[in-house]
Amino acid sequence: MSLSVALTKGRLEKKTVAMLERCDYGIEKLKDKGRALVFPDTKKDIRYFLVKSNDCLTYVEHGVADIGVVGKDTILEGSKDYYEMLDLEIGKCKFILASLPDIDLLNKVGHIKIGTKYPNVARDYFHSKGMDVEIIKIDGSVELSPILGLCDGIVDIMETGTTLKENGLVVLDTVCPISARIIVNKASFKLKRQEVMNFLDDLKGIVEENAQSNL
Ligand code: PRP
Repeated sequence: MSLSVALTKGRLEKKTVAMLERCDYGIEKLKDKGRALVFPDTKKDIRYFLVKSNDCLTYVEHGVADIGVVGKDTILEGSKDYYEMLDLEIGKCKFILASLPDIDLLNKVGHIKIGTKYPNVARDYFHSKGMDVEIIKIDGSVELSPILGLCDGIVDIMETGTTLKENGLVVLDTVCPISARIIVNKASFKLKRQEVMNFLDDLKGIVEENAQSNL
């Protein structure tokens, strides 16, 4: 039975395609993609499609994709009706709490305002600390919001730390680490078990090779 695989486009895309290539999958069309959106594997009975991260969850939940490759950030913020099967250990970054340097946010008494693209992640973090928080949803350039006085701090993704540094913000705490995960549609895991397991095993082999070479 053929497999449909939803890949998250953007930051994760190149690293994911590189892993598939090392599995000796036929990903030429993914590497030379033009404006196409669906890419048949030239060696295996697999078709790939490139989607935005939130849509990756949607396609997998609805079974249009049997498998998805998506960041843990999207998983933590989004819906959960699928199996999370493998940490690919690529696209590593983390969720952090940051603010301007003179604000002692974690010891602030009373109500605080947090700007974020990830309201569920931010709310869970502050609730776990028993803190009273107002979440302000921001769609991009979150670092601006404390600078302009919209909020006291931000919960956001940090990769290199350059954006925070260049905007004069400091990290107050790490919320949790993030990396790319393989998710699997629940019905596909039963009905296409062998194909799904073969795909997972192939990628697991590359994850292990990467871990060995980093020792
Ligand atoms: C993400 C994130 C930070 C930045 C962190 O934003 O929200 O702004 O990357 O990366 P760094 O630690 O390497 O500087 P993205 O580039 O996705 O853009 P956006 O703010 O428009 O969402």
